[in-house]
Amino acid sequence: MEPTAILAAIALVPQPAELAVTGGTAPAATEVRYVEDASIPAEGYRLSVAEDGIRIASSDEAGRFYAGVTLRQLALPDGSLPCVEIADAPAFAWRGMHLDVSRHFFGVDDVKRFLDLMAAHKLNRFHWHLTDGQGWRLDVPSHPELAAASARRNGRKDEAEEPFAQGDHFFYAEEEVRDVLAYAAARHIEVVPEIEMPGHFGAVLGTHPEFACVDADGNRIGWNEICAGNDAALACMEDVLDDVCRLFPFGVVHIGGDECSRKKWRDCPRCQARIKAEGLADEDALQNWISRRMVRFLEARGRRALGWDEYLLGGGVSTNAIGMRWRGGGGAGGGPSNFVSAATMAAAGHDLVMANSRWVYLDYPQGLPDDPCRYTFDKQKPLDLCYAFDPLRDIPPELHGRVLGGQGCNWTETTPTREILEWKMWPRACALAECLWCGAGRKPSYDDFLRRLEVHRARLVADGVNAAPVPLPPDPLAR
Ligand code: ACM
Ligand code: ZN
Repeated sequence: MEPTAILAAIALVPQPAELAVTGGTAPAATEVRYVEDASIPAEGYRLSVAEDGIRIASSDEAGRFYAGVTLRQLALPDGSLPCVEIADAPAFAWRGMHLDVSRHFFGVDDVKRFLDLMAAHKLNRFHWHLTDGQGWRLDVPSHPELAAASARRNGRKDEAEEPFAQGDHFFYAEEEVRDVLAYAAARHIEVVPEIEMPGHFGAVLGTHPEFACVDADGNRIGWNEICAGNDAALACMEDVLDDVCRLFPFGVVHIGGDECSRKKWRDCPRCQARIKAEGLADEDALQNWISRRMVRFLEARGRRALGWDEYLLGGGVSTNAIGMRWRGGGGAGGGPSNFVSAATMAAAGHDLVMANSRWVYLDYPQGLPDDPCRYTFDKQKPLDLCYAFDPLRDIPPELHGRVLGGQGCNWTETTPTREILEWKMWPRACALAECLWCGAGRKPSYDDFLRRLEVHRARLVADGVNAAPVPLPPDPLAR
Protein backbone atom coordinates (compact mmCIF):
# COMPACT_ATOMS: atom_id res chain seq x y z
CA MET A 1 0.00 0.00 0.00
CA GLU A 2 1.18 3.51 -0.81
CA PRO A 3 1.69 5.82 2.20
CA THR A 4 -1.19 8.05 1.02
CA ALA A 5 -3.51 5.03 0.76
CA ILE A 6 -2.38 3.84 4.19
CA LEU A 7 -2.99 7.29 5.64
CA ALA A 8 -6.51 7.25 4.21
CA ALA A 9 -7.16 3.83 5.76
CA ILE A 10 -6.10 4.90 9.26
CA ALA A 11 -9.07 5.97 11.35
CA LEU A 12 -8.11 6.79 14.93
CA VAL A 13 -10.65 8.21 17.40
CA PRO A 14 -9.55 10.32 19.17
CA GLN A 15 -7.04 11.63 16.66
CA PRO A 16 -3.47 11.60 18.06
CA ALA A 17 -1.51 14.84 18.41
CA GLU A 18 1.13 13.80 15.85
CA LEU A 19 0.85 11.03 13.28
CA ALA A 20 3.31 10.27 10.49
CA VAL A 21 3.03 7.33 8.11
CA THR A 22 6.47 5.98 7.40
CA GLY A 23 5.55 3.38 4.74
CA GLY A 24 5.08 -0.35 4.73
CA THR A 25 3.26 -2.57 7.19
CA ALA A 26 4.16 -4.80 10.11
CA PRO A 27 2.56 -8.20 10.71
CA ALA A 28 -0.11 -8.42 13.41
CA ALA A 29 2.13 -10.47 15.71
CA THR A 30 5.05 -8.04 15.70
CA GLU A 31 6.85 -7.93 19.04
CA VAL A 32 6.23 -4.87 21.26
CA ARG A 33 9.02 -3.29 23.30
CA TYR A 34 8.16 -0.95 26.17
CA VAL A 35 10.39 1.92 27.22
CA GLU A 36 10.10 4.35 30.12
CA ASP A 37 10.66 7.97 29.17
CA ALA A 38 10.14 10.56 31.93
CA SER A 39 10.01 13.40 29.38
CA ILE A 40 6.64 12.20 28.04
CA PRO A 41 3.63 13.94 29.65
CA ALA A 42 1.25 12.09 31.96
CA GLU A 43 -1.00 9.65 30.07
CA GLY A 44 0.92 10.41 26.87
CA TYR A 45 2.92 8.00 24.73
CA ARG A 46 5.11 7.60 21.71
CA LEU A 47 4.30 4.71 19.46
CA SER A 48 6.58 3.57 16.71
CA VAL A 49 5.45 0.78 14.39
CA ALA A 50 8.21 -0.50 12.09
CA GLU A 51 8.44 -3.61 9.96
CA ASP A 52 10.88 -5.18 12.43
CA GLY A 53 9.25 -4.15 15.70
CA ILE A 54 6.90 -1.97 17.71
CA ARG A 55 8.18 0.43 20.35
CA ILE A 56 6.02 2.12 22.99
CA ALA A 57 7.45 4.81 25.25
CA SER A 58 5.64 6.51 28.12
CA SER A 59 6.29 7.98 31.53
CA ASP A 60 3.41 6.12 33.19
CA GLU A 61 1.22 3.03 32.99
CA ALA A 62 -1.72 5.02 31.59
CA GLY A 63 0.35 6.18 28.61
CA ARG A 64 1.38 2.61 27.90
CA PHE A 65 -2.28 1.57 28.12
CA TYR A 66 -3.40 4.29 25.69
CA ALA A 67 -0.68 3.31 23.23
CA GLY A 68 -2.25 -0.14 23.28
CA VAL A 69 -5.68 1.37 22.60
CA THR A 70 -4.25 3.21 19.60
CA LEU A 71 -2.49 0.08 18.40
CA ARG A 72 -5.76 -1.85 18.33
CA GLN A 73 -7.44 0.88 16.28
CA LEU A 74 -4.48 0.98 13.88
CA ALA A 75 -4.95 -2.57 12.61
CA LEU A 76 -5.80 -2.66 8.91
CA PRO A 77 -8.59 -4.96 7.64
CA ASP A 78 -6.07 -7.79 7.02
CA GLY A 79 -4.77 -7.47 10.60
CA SER A 80 -1.43 -5.95 9.63
CA LEU A 81 -0.27 -2.69 11.16
CA PRO A 82 0.73 0.37 9.14
CA CYS A 83 4.21 1.64 9.95
CA VAL A 84 3.74 4.92 11.81
CA GLU A 85 5.30 7.31 14.27
CA ILE A 86 2.79 8.68 16.77
CA ALA A 87 3.34 11.18 19.59
CA ASP A 88 0.28 11.75 21.69
CA ALA A 89 -1.00 13.12 25.00
CA PRO A 90 -4.35 14.36 26.27
CA ALA A 91 -5.35 18.01 26.43
CA PHE A 92 -7.46 17.49 29.58
CA ALA A 93 -6.84 15.34 32.65
CA TRP A 94 -10.61 14.86 33.32
CA ARG A 95 -12.21 13.02 30.42
CA GLY A 96 -15.40 11.76 31.90
CA MET A 97 -18.63 9.92 31.28
CA HIS A 98 -21.57 9.97 33.65
CA LEU A 99 -24.18 7.25 34.11
CA ASP A 100 -27.42 7.69 36.03
CA VAL A 101 -28.25 4.30 37.55
CA SER A 102 -31.09 5.64 39.70
CA ARG A 103 -33.76 6.34 37.09
CA HIS A 104 -32.99 2.97 35.54
CA PHE A 105 -30.68 0.49 37.15
CA PHE A 106 -27.77 -0.97 35.18
CA GLY A 107 -26.14 -4.10 36.54
CA VAL A 108 -22.44 -4.84 36.93
CA ASP A 109 -22.11 -6.44 33.48
CA ASP A 110 -23.58 -3.35 31.82
CA VAL A 111 -21.33 -1.08 33.86
CA LYS A 112 -18.27 -3.11 32.84
CA ARG A 113 -19.26 -2.87 29.20
CA PHE A 114 -19.68 0.90 29.67
CA LEU A 115 -16.15 1.05 31.14
CA ASP A 116 -14.74 -0.99 28.24
CA LEU A 117 -16.14 1.49 25.77
CA MET A 118 -14.89 4.44 27.79
CA ALA A 119 -11.37 2.99 27.85
CA ALA A 120 -11.50 2.30 24.10
CA HIS A 121 -11.93 6.07 23.64
CA LYS A 122 -9.33 7.09 26.26
CA LEU A 123 -11.97 8.36 28.69
CA ASN A 124 -10.76 8.16 32.29
CA ARG A 125 -13.41 9.34 34.80
CA PHE A 126 -16.55 7.32 35.46
CA HIS A 127 -19.11 9.52 37.21
CA TRP A 128 -21.48 7.02 38.85
CA HIS A 129 -24.75 8.78 39.68
CA LEU A 130 -25.76 6.31 42.39
CA THR A 131 -28.64 8.07 44.10
CA ASP A 132 -31.57 10.22 43.03
CA GLY A 133 -35.28 10.58 43.60
CA GLN A 134 -36.11 7.28 41.94
CA GLY A 135 -33.71 4.85 43.57
CA TRP A 136 -30.81 4.46 46.01
CA ARG A 137 -28.35 2.10 44.35
CA LEU A 138 -25.42 1.81 46.77
CA ASP A 139 -25.53 -0.59 49.66
CA VAL A 140 -23.74 1.09 52.57
CA PRO A 141 -22.96 -0.67 55.86
CA SER A 142 -24.07 2.29 57.99
CA HIS A 143 -27.58 2.41 56.47
CA PRO A 144 -28.50 -0.86 54.73
CA GLU A 145 -32.16 0.21 54.76
CA LEU A 146 -31.47 2.76 51.99
CA ALA A 147 -30.56 0.25 49.27
CA ALA A 148 -32.95 -2.39 50.57
CA ALA A 149 -35.85 -0.02 49.87
CA SER A 150 -34.71 0.61 46.27
CA ALA A 151 -35.13 -2.95 45.04
CA ARG A 152 -36.92 -2.00 41.85
CA ARG A 153 -35.35 -2.37 38.45
CA ASN A 154 -37.09 0.68 37.14
CA GLY A 155 -37.14 3.96 39.03
CA ARG A 156 -40.10 5.26 36.99
CA LYS A 157 -43.41 4.57 38.62
CA ASP A 158 -45.33 4.97 35.35
CA GLU A 159 -43.69 2.08 33.51
CA ALA A 160 -44.00 -1.66 33.94
CA GLU A 161 -41.16 -3.52 35.60
CA GLU A 162 -38.76 -5.12 33.19
CA PRO A 163 -37.07 -8.47 33.64
CA PHE A 164 -33.52 -8.17 34.79
CA ALA A 165 -30.72 -10.55 35.53
CA GLN A 166 -28.72 -9.35 38.51
CA GLY A 167 -29.96 -11.82 41.04
CA ASP A 168 -32.81 -10.34 42.99
CA HIS A 169 -31.36 -6.97 43.94
CA PHE A 170 -31.29 -3.70 42.12
CA PHE A 171 -28.46 -1.97 43.91
CA TYR A 172 -24.71 -2.57 44.10
CA ALA A 173 -23.54 -4.66 47.01
CA GLU A 174 -20.12 -3.79 48.39
CA GLU A 175 -18.38 -6.71 46.66
CA GLU A 176 -19.96 -5.66 43.36
CA VAL A 177 -18.64 -2.14 43.79
CA ARG A 178 -15.17 -3.57 44.50
CA ASP A 179 -15.46 -5.66 41.35
CA VAL A 180 -16.33 -2.56 39.30
CA LEU A 181 -13.52 -0.56 40.94
CA ALA A 182 -10.93 -3.22 40.05
CA TYR A 183 -12.27 -3.43 36.50
CA ALA A 184 -12.07 0.36 36.12
CA ALA A 185 -8.58 0.54 37.63
CA ALA A 186 -7.31 -2.02 35.12
CA ARG A 187 -8.50 0.39 32.39
CA HIS A 188 -7.03 3.51 34.01
CA ILE A 189 -10.46 4.85 34.90
CA GLU A 190 -11.09 6.58 38.22
CA VAL A 191 -14.57 6.10 39.65
CA VAL A 192 -16.34 9.18 41.02
CA PRO A 193 -19.34 8.20 43.17
CA GLU A 194 -22.21 10.66 43.48
CA ILE A 195 -24.46 10.88 46.54
CA GLU A 196 -27.16 13.47 45.79
CA MET A 197 -28.18 16.08 48.35
CA PRO A 198 -29.92 18.31 49.38
CA GLY A 199 -32.32 17.91 46.40
CA HIS A 200 -33.01 14.79 44.31
CA PHE A 201 -33.45 13.18 47.72
CA GLY A 202 -36.76 11.40 47.23
CA ALA A 203 -35.35 7.86 47.49
CA VAL A 204 -34.04 8.58 50.99
CA LEU A 205 -37.35 10.18 51.97
CA GLY A 206 -39.17 7.06 50.77
CA THR A 207 -37.25 5.10 53.41
CA HIS A 208 -36.97 7.87 56.00
CA PRO A 209 -40.07 10.09 55.75
CA GLU A 210 -38.97 11.68 59.02
CA PHE A 211 -36.11 13.38 57.08
CA ALA A 212 -38.63 15.49 55.12
CA CYS A 213 -39.71 19.07 55.83
CA VAL A 214 -42.93 19.61 57.75
CA ASP A 215 -45.28 22.57 58.14
CA ALA A 216 -46.11 24.35 61.39
CA ASP A 217 -48.67 21.63 62.20
CA GLY A 218 -46.14 18.86 61.68
CA ASN A 219 -47.59 17.72 58.32
CA ARG A 220 -45.08 16.52 55.77
CA ILE A 221 -44.50 19.05 52.96
CA GLY A 222 -41.16 17.94 51.50
CA TRP A 223 -40.86 15.24 48.81
CA ASN A 224 -37.59 15.88 47.01
CA GLU A 225 -35.28 17.68 49.42
CA ILE A 226 -33.63 16.97 52.76
CA CYS A 227 -34.95 18.89 55.76
CA ALA A 228 -31.91 21.06 56.45
CA GLY A 229 -33.08 21.53 60.02
CA ASN A 230 -33.05 17.80 60.73
CA ASP A 231 -29.83 16.74 62.46
CA ALA A 232 -30.51 13.02 62.01
CA ALA A 233 -30.93 13.46 58.23
CA LEU A 234 -27.62 15.31 57.90
CA ALA A 235 -25.87 12.78 60.15
CA CYS A 236 -27.23 9.97 57.97
CA MET A 237 -25.68 11.57 54.89
CA GLU A 238 -22.38 11.97 56.74
CA ASP A 239 -22.47 8.28 57.67
CA VAL A 240 -22.99 7.48 53.98
CA LEU A 241 -20.10 9.71 52.92
CA ASP A 242 -17.93 8.03 55.52
CA ASP A 243 -18.76 4.65 53.97
CA VAL A 244 -18.17 6.05 50.48
CA CYS A 245 -14.71 7.32 51.47
CA ARG A 246 -13.83 3.86 52.80
CA LEU A 247 -15.04 2.08 49.69
CA PHE A 248 -13.98 4.37 46.83
CA PRO A 249 -10.25 5.11 46.55
CA PHE A 250 -10.38 8.12 44.21
CA GLY A 251 -9.77 11.52 45.78
CA VAL A 252 -13.02 13.12 44.57
CA VAL A 253 -16.59 12.50 45.81
CA HIS A 254 -19.61 14.11 44.13
CA ILE A 255 -22.29 15.46 46.48
CA GLY A 256 -24.91 16.63 43.98
CA GLY A 257 -26.31 20.06 44.81
CA ASP A 258 -28.48 20.65 41.72
CA GLU A 259 -32.11 21.61 41.42
CA CYS A 260 -32.94 21.75 45.11
CA SER A 261 -36.18 23.64 45.48
CA ARG A 262 -35.64 25.71 48.59
CA LYS A 263 -39.29 26.80 48.82
CA LYS A 264 -40.14 24.02 51.28
CA TRP A 265 -37.39 25.24 53.60
CA ARG A 266 -39.20 28.60 53.78
CA ASP A 267 -42.33 26.95 55.17
CA CYS A 268 -40.58 24.46 57.46
CA PRO A 269 -40.11 25.60 61.08
CA ARG A 270 -37.11 23.26 61.50
CA CYS A 271 -35.30 24.76 58.51
CA GLN A 272 -36.17 28.27 59.68
CA ALA A 273 -34.80 27.44 63.14
CA ARG A 274 -31.55 26.32 61.48
CA ILE A 275 -31.34 29.57 59.51
CA LYS A 276 -31.78 31.54 62.74
CA ALA A 277 -29.37 29.44 64.80
CA GLU A 278 -26.64 29.69 62.17
CA GLY A 279 -27.22 33.41 61.48
CA LEU A 280 -27.98 32.74 57.78
CA ALA A 281 -29.63 35.28 55.51
CA ASP A 282 -32.12 33.02 53.72
CA GLU A 283 -32.77 29.60 52.15
CA ASP A 284 -30.04 30.07 49.53
CA ALA A 285 -27.58 30.57 52.36
CA LEU A 286 -28.95 27.40 53.95
CA GLN A 287 -27.96 25.36 50.90
CA ASN A 288 -24.55 27.01 51.02
CA TRP A 289 -24.32 26.01 54.73
CA ILE A 290 -24.96 22.35 53.81
CA SER A 291 -22.32 22.52 51.07
CA ARG A 292 -19.74 23.93 53.45
CA ARG A 293 -20.53 21.30 56.07
CA MET A 294 -20.23 18.38 53.62
CA VAL A 295 -17.16 19.80 51.87
CA ARG A 296 -15.43 20.08 55.27
CA PHE A 297 -16.56 16.57 56.17
CA LEU A 298 -14.94 15.19 53.01
CA GLU A 299 -11.83 17.32 53.45
CA ALA A 300 -11.32 15.78 56.89
CA ARG A 301 -11.25 12.38 55.13
CA GLY A 302 -8.74 13.53 52.52
CA ARG A 303 -11.29 13.93 49.73
CA ARG A 304 -12.22 16.81 47.46
CA ALA A 305 -15.92 17.47 47.01
CA LEU A 306 -17.40 17.89 43.58
CA GLY A 307 -20.89 19.21 42.92
CA TRP A 308 -23.23 20.69 40.35
CA ASP A 309 -23.24 24.50 39.89
CA GLU A 310 -25.67 25.42 42.65
CA TYR A 311 -23.71 23.88 45.51
CA LEU A 312 -21.28 26.79 45.21
CA LEU A 313 -24.09 29.35 45.20
CA GLY A 314 -23.29 32.23 47.54
CA GLY A 315 -19.53 31.60 47.63
CA GLY A 316 -17.38 31.01 50.70
CA VAL A 317 -17.04 27.25 50.13
CA SER A 318 -13.49 25.89 50.53
CA THR A 319 -11.60 26.30 47.25
CA ASN A 320 -10.65 22.67 47.58
CA ALA A 321 -14.18 21.98 46.29
CA ILE A 322 -14.61 21.42 42.54
CA GLY A 323 -17.54 22.78 40.52
CA MET A 324 -19.28 20.71 37.86
CA ARG A 325 -20.93 23.11 35.46
CA TRP A 326 -24.11 21.60 34.02
CA ARG A 327 -26.11 24.60 32.87
CA GLY A 328 -25.83 26.28 29.48
CA GLY A 329 -22.53 27.60 28.29
CA GLY A 330 -19.48 28.39 30.34
CA GLY A 331 -20.47 31.94 31.20
CA ALA A 332 -24.23 32.19 31.19
CA GLY A 333 -27.28 30.20 32.19
CA GLY A 334 -29.60 29.37 35.05
CA GLY A 335 -32.36 31.33 36.70
CA PRO A 336 -31.40 34.16 39.05
CA SER A 337 -31.26 31.98 42.14
CA ASN A 338 -29.22 29.35 40.37
CA PHE A 339 -26.79 31.58 38.63
CA VAL A 340 -23.26 30.48 39.37
CA SER A 341 -21.39 30.71 36.10
CA ALA A 342 -18.31 28.66 35.40
CA ALA A 343 -16.27 31.85 35.18
CA THR A 344 -17.61 32.91 38.60
CA MET A 345 -16.65 29.57 40.14
CA ALA A 346 -13.18 29.66 38.59
CA ALA A 347 -12.60 33.28 39.64
CA ALA A 348 -13.50 32.27 43.22
CA GLY A 349 -10.67 29.70 43.09
CA HIS A 350 -12.56 26.50 42.29
CA ASP A 351 -11.38 23.94 39.77
CA LEU A 352 -14.03 23.02 37.21
CA VAL A 353 -15.36 20.08 35.26
CA MET A 354 -17.55 21.12 32.35
CA ALA A 355 -20.65 19.02 31.71
CA ASN A 356 -22.81 21.62 30.00
CA SER A 357 -26.26 20.40 29.06
CA ARG A 358 -26.03 22.48 25.89
CA TRP A 359 -23.43 20.17 24.35
CA VAL A 360 -22.91 16.98 26.31
CA TYR A 361 -26.26 15.68 27.60
CA LEU A 362 -26.74 12.48 25.63
CA ASP A 363 -30.32 11.92 26.81
CA TYR A 364 -31.40 14.58 24.32
CA PRO A 365 -32.32 13.51 20.77
CA GLN A 366 -29.52 13.31 18.22
CA GLY A 367 -31.35 14.60 15.15
CA LEU A 368 -31.94 11.27 13.40
CA PRO A 369 -34.94 11.17 11.06
CA ASP A 370 -36.47 7.87 12.25
CA ASP A 371 -35.04 7.47 15.69
CA PRO A 372 -36.81 4.57 17.44
CA CYS A 373 -35.78 5.76 20.92
CA ARG A 374 -37.66 8.00 23.29
CA TYR A 375 -35.67 10.87 24.77
CA THR A 376 -36.28 12.79 27.97
CA PHE A 377 -36.30 16.21 26.30
CA ASP A 378 -37.04 17.64 22.84
CA LYS A 379 -34.05 19.81 22.16
CA GLN A 380 -31.72 18.28 19.57
CA LYS A 381 -28.08 17.62 20.42
CA PRO A 382 -26.78 16.31 17.10
CA LEU A 383 -23.32 14.91 16.56
CA ASP A 384 -21.89 18.14 15.12
CA LEU A 385 -23.03 20.05 18.22
CA CYS A 386 -21.26 17.51 20.46
CA TYR A 387 -18.16 17.92 18.31
CA ALA A 388 -18.27 21.68 18.99
CA PHE A 389 -17.89 21.10 22.75
CA ASP A 390 -14.97 23.04 24.22
CA PRO A 391 -14.53 23.00 28.01
CA LEU A 392 -12.62 26.28 27.84
CA ARG A 393 -15.36 28.19 26.04
CA ASP A 394 -16.40 31.37 27.89
CA ILE A 395 -13.67 30.92 30.51
CA PRO A 396 -11.25 33.87 30.64
CA PRO A 397 -7.77 32.74 29.46
CA GLU A 398 -6.15 33.50 32.81
CA LEU A 399 -8.54 30.94 34.39
CA HIS A 400 -8.07 28.15 31.83
CA GLY A 401 -5.81 26.34 34.28
CA ARG A 402 -8.83 25.84 36.55
CA VAL A 403 -10.63 23.69 33.97
CA LEU A 404 -9.77 20.06 34.69
CA GLY A 405 -11.76 18.89 31.67
CA GLY A 406 -15.28 17.78 30.92
CA GLN A 407 -17.64 14.88 30.53
CA GLY A 408 -20.73 13.58 28.82
CA CYS A 409 -23.88 12.86 30.86
CA ASN A 410 -26.28 9.93 30.48
CA TRP A 411 -29.48 10.60 32.41
CA THR A 412 -31.68 7.55 32.16
CA GLU A 413 -35.32 8.53 32.70
CA THR A 414 -36.05 7.26 29.19
CA THR A 415 -33.14 4.80 28.93
CA PRO A 416 -34.23 1.43 30.28
CA THR A 417 -31.72 -0.91 28.59
CA ARG A 418 -28.09 -1.20 27.57
CA GLU A 419 -29.09 -1.26 23.90
CA ILE A 420 -30.88 2.06 24.20
CA LEU A 421 -28.06 3.53 26.29
CA GLU A 422 -25.53 2.57 23.61
CA TRP A 423 -27.70 4.00 20.84
CA LYS A 424 -27.91 7.33 22.65
CA MET A 425 -24.20 7.41 23.52
CA TRP A 426 -22.50 6.25 20.37
CA PRO A 427 -21.25 7.83 18.21
CA ARG A 428 -21.84 11.12 20.08
CA ALA A 429 -19.51 9.99 22.86
CA CYS A 430 -16.81 9.53 20.19
CA ALA A 431 -17.12 13.26 19.46
CA LEU A 432 -16.87 14.14 23.15
CA ALA A 433 -13.87 11.86 23.65
CA GLU A 434 -12.07 13.62 20.80
CA CYS A 435 -12.94 17.09 22.20
CA LEU A 436 -11.49 16.12 25.56
CA TRP A 437 -8.41 14.32 24.28
CA CYS A 438 -7.48 16.91 21.65
CA GLY A 439 -8.83 20.17 23.06
CA ALA A 440 -10.05 22.89 20.71
CA GLY A 441 -6.47 23.80 19.79
CA ARG A 442 -5.66 20.62 17.92
CA LYS A 443 -9.08 19.13 17.23
CA PRO A 444 -9.38 18.31 13.52
CA SER A 445 -12.24 19.59 11.36
CA TYR A 446 -15.70 18.02 11.67
CA ASP A 447 -15.32 16.64 8.11
CA ASP A 448 -12.10 14.92 9.10
CA PHE A 449 -13.85 13.46 12.16
CA LEU A 450 -16.69 12.16 9.98
CA ARG A 451 -14.24 10.46 7.62
CA ARG A 452 -12.60 8.59 10.50
CA LEU A 453 -15.93 7.95 12.18
CA GLU A 454 -17.23 6.03 9.19
CA VAL A 455 -14.54 3.40 9.77
CA HIS A 456 -14.66 3.67 13.55
CA ARG A 457 -18.43 3.29 13.82
CA ALA A 458 -18.24 0.09 11.77
CA ARG A 459 -15.60 -1.08 14.28
CA LEU A 460 -18.02 -0.39 17.16
CA VAL A 461 -20.86 -2.19 15.40
CA ALA A 462 -18.60 -5.18 14.68
CA ASP A 463 -17.87 -5.19 18.41
CA GLY A 464 -21.59 -5.53 19.12
CA VAL A 465 -22.21 -1.91 20.11
CA ASN A 466 -25.70 -0.69 19.26
CA ALA A 467 -24.32 2.54 17.79
CA ALA A 468 -26.72 4.98 16.11
CA PRO A 469 -26.07 5.96 12.49
CA VAL A 470 -24.12 9.08 11.73
CA PRO A 471 -26.63 11.78 10.79
CA LEU A 472 -26.26 13.11 7.27
CA PRO A 473 -24.97 16.66 7.11
CA PRO A 474 -27.70 19.15 6.16
CA ASP A 475 -28.30 19.26 2.39
CA PRO A 476 -26.98 22.64 1.22
CA LEU A 477 -29.44 22.57 -1.72
CA ALA A 478 -32.46 21.99 0.53
CA ARG A 479 -34.36 25.11 1.44
C1 ACM B 1 -28.73 18.27 36.22
O1 ACM B 1 -28.89 18.07 35.01
N1 ACM B 1 -29.76 18.54 36.99
C2 ACM B 1 -27.42 18.21 36.83
ZN1 ZN C 1 -37.13 21.49 56.84
